Amino acid sequence: MRIVLDFTAMTADVVGDRHGLTVDEIDAMSSAFAAVHEQINKQKEAGDLPFFDLPYDKQMLSDVLKTASRIVRRCENFVVLGIGGSALGGIALFKALAHPHHNLLAEEKRRGLPRVFFADNIDPEEFCALLDLVNLEKTVFNVISKSGGTAETMSQFLIVRNRLMRRLGHDRHKLHIIATTDPSQGYLRQIVKKEGYESLPIHPGVGGRFSVLSPVGLLPAAVAGIDIAELLAGARSADKTCTESNPWKNPAGMNALLQVLAYTRKKKPISVMMPYSGSLRDVADWYRQLWAESLGKRLDVSGRVVNVGPTPVKALGVTDQHSQLQLYMEGPFDKIITFLTVERFRKGITIPRGFKHMDGVWYLGGHTLNELMHAEEEATKFALTRAHRPHVTIRLPEINPFTVGQLLFLLEVQTLYAGRLLKINPLDQPGVEAGKELTYALMGRKGFENRANLLTAKSHEQKTYRIMV
Ligand code: PA5
Repeated sequence: MRIVLDFTAMTADVVGDRHGLTVDEIDAMSSAFAAVHEQINKQKEAGDLPFFDLPYDKQMLSDVLKTASRIVRRCENFVVLGIGGSALGGIALFKALAHPHHNLLAEEKRRGLPRVFFADNIDPEEFCALLDLVNLEKTVFNVISKSGGTAETMSQFLIVRNRLMRRLGHDRHKLHIIATTDPSQGYLRQIVKKEGYESLPIHPGVGGRFSVLSPVGLLPAAVAGIDIAELLAGARSADKTCTESNPWKNPAGMNALLQVLAYTRKKKPISVMMPYSGSLRDVADWYRQLWAESLGKRLDVSGRVVNVGPTPVKALGVTDQHSQLQLYMEGPFDKIITFLTVERFRKGITIPRGFKHMDGVWYLGGHTLNELMHAEEEATKFALTRAHRPHVTIRLPEINPFTVGQLLFLLEVQTLYAGRLLKINPLDQPGVEAGKELTYALMGRKGFENRANLLTAKSHEQKTYRIMV
């Protein structure tokens, strides 16, 4: 069961020379790709790109499974506290592979599994509402932070810890917290050691947005009853297809090349991902972060100011046909679209016949929603092609842990290739760090006073422009 990359509609043959790519244009970049591929292979072999090793890590799999089975036995609610790369992967897996309404199902229909929540924002109204909803005595909180110091996550942790201690006392509260963090560095690891919380490690060399197949994404997935061994098997299968230095045989390589060529040569700075599947909606959200944080950079690897990065946009079929599609079809020629297509949905439902004398309603009867979904997707793609709008399709035979593992791994490797082709470092995030540091300053963290002074001076200097409504 393998997913397929179909890039027919990226080619000049299909969407025309102005917006499509010729075989010669793709081939002209093949040697640059081969060089990037070789460089990555060397780093992989030296162990410098440890996210490649995650699908093969049997010890990690067994540790996560054991931890998950203990958690499942002792709680009704499992709440993830984390943000960015520490949340988006888990959310994507949960949405794609658990029951679409898992948390609303009665306990027996959930097979006794806990409800799973992701608190990936610090909106006080939302967070208080979540705390109102869960009975602390029956809840386990998974605090996830690679650095162990992110203000949002650590604030949530302090609130939760305080409430747990007040309700259950110091000793018992420990049973309700499990941390996922760096094995030796950071404040959260220090707290784990001090308090004796249960914990799982994130490999020090795996960055947040490449951590979905580490305990960061795997523990919440396993608690939700998702087959994480199959997920990793799918990732291994995708890894095998990424060993070719010829991009025509390497789907991650080819898609990276296409995206980079569209961005640099065809002036298409916007890259839309549009799954035709509600379950894959948050895969597009996860990918949006992966693409944006990895590729949006001020400096290239030689230190030159380049300010590069295609802008990722998420859309959803068919919903956004009634929102975004008009723009994609007739607006500026500044986008390429990646469709995520599902051949066989896990459920099917027939539309009953009704209102025989109304042609505009009667024709629907006897078809299935599955057919309607596919018809709308095909029609959209056909119309885009005719309007000279390039697009790629990643086709999943069906949504299951294996194919989702393939998909996520493919997109991770593609992002790494794209970063290297753009000659930037796709594994750092200086812009995110800068924002974090200014927040620390504003919140009075010791050691960040200079930045706080800078901010206050700036806001005094600036003239403001406001109108009361
Ligand atoms: O991908 C990234 O590196 C970021 O999005 C981080 O995951 C995010 O900032 C949270 O960081 P941490 O896991 O250190 O709390």
